[in-house]
Amino acid sequence: MFPVDRPRRLRRTPALRRLVAETSLQPRHLVLPMFVADGLDAPREISSMPGVYQHTLDSLSKAAEEAVAAGVGGVMLFGVPRAEDKDAIGSGATDPQGILNRGLRRLKSDLGDSTVVMADTCLDEFTDHGHCGVLTADGAVDNDTTLARYVDMAVAQADSGAHLLGPSGMMDGQVAAIRAGLDAAGHHDVGQLAYSAKYASAFYGPFREAVGSSLQGDRRTYQQDSANRREAAYEVELDLAEGADMVMVKPAMSYLDILRDVANISPVPVAAYQISGEYSMITAAAQNGWIDRDAAILESLTSIRRAGADVVLTYWATEAAGWL
Ligand code: PBG
Repeated sequence: MFPVDRPRRLRRTPALRRLVAETSLQPRHLVLPMFVADGLDAPREISSMPGVYQHTLDSLSKAAEEAVAAGVGGVMLFGVPRAEDKDAIGSGATDPQGILNRGLRRLKSDLGDSTVVMADTCLDEFTDHGHCGVLTADGAVDNDTTLARYVDMAVAQADSGAHLLGPSGMMDGQVAAIRAGLDAAGHHDVGQLAYSAKYASAFYGPFREAVGSSLQGDRRTYQQDSANRREAAYEVELDLAEGADMVMVKPAMSYLDILRDVANISPVPVAAYQISGEYSMITAAAQNGWIDRDAAILESLTSIRRAGADVVLTYWATEAAGWL
């Protein structure tokens, strides 16, 4: 007549729900991606990502200190060079005076080892064509020429004080090449958070504005096809064999099945990146009054953790850490 099994019993009060929660979300699980831009007098808000800024060196330092005070696990830095400093090979990426390397040195001197400073190791912010690598004469992204650029970029970032490098260009062999380059330069202790399963995604849209990039064409010849699941495991296995210290799945919310697969096979910590478009969608819906912003943020982050992420990169890292 009446149900004997009543799962609702354990949902009755907040204390009961807290007692039986299977997934936890703590400030240390969150990493804040940050943009530092060259030639700015003041921080500039990214219009497609309200609340996210291109920073000056000073505002970068202040925002990073706030993130650390909120308890985040780390920060991931992206550089935004001046348009006139971009070229075909992304020279600003390897120049010690390039904006990303200057930003890394600033964070190192301000924060030391009190947090984990990560760097995006990819050329697209620095190339005038917006691709993640060097192009051949007929416009294809040249894998092996690009690897040499990544090695130089990685060494410059390690020299500038980064703890972890995030190779995000999806070139074949990038983790092994960077590992060998770092070791040859004496940077044995600088690790790699490899963007192993990175999909070609429409949800990167707002990132183009964030880094002032106008991409010619698309990234489908090097980033993964959203139709593919098994291939993600292959990419992760390759990166592990090449020496990845952590592996990442990106984007997050449309790829939670991939994240679960990777979490099930990975012997190293797994990260997921809640990317620009995910941020902008929730922000825009909340601005229209269509969803409860804070609840949607916490639900999205909890879901990414539940799917298997040890670490979540999110533009809400500081704010969400403050709530937890
Ligand atoms: C490549 C890189 C991208 C992002 C992180 N690293 C852009 C891309 O691959 O197209 C996207 C991050 C985001 O959208 O929030 N440097």
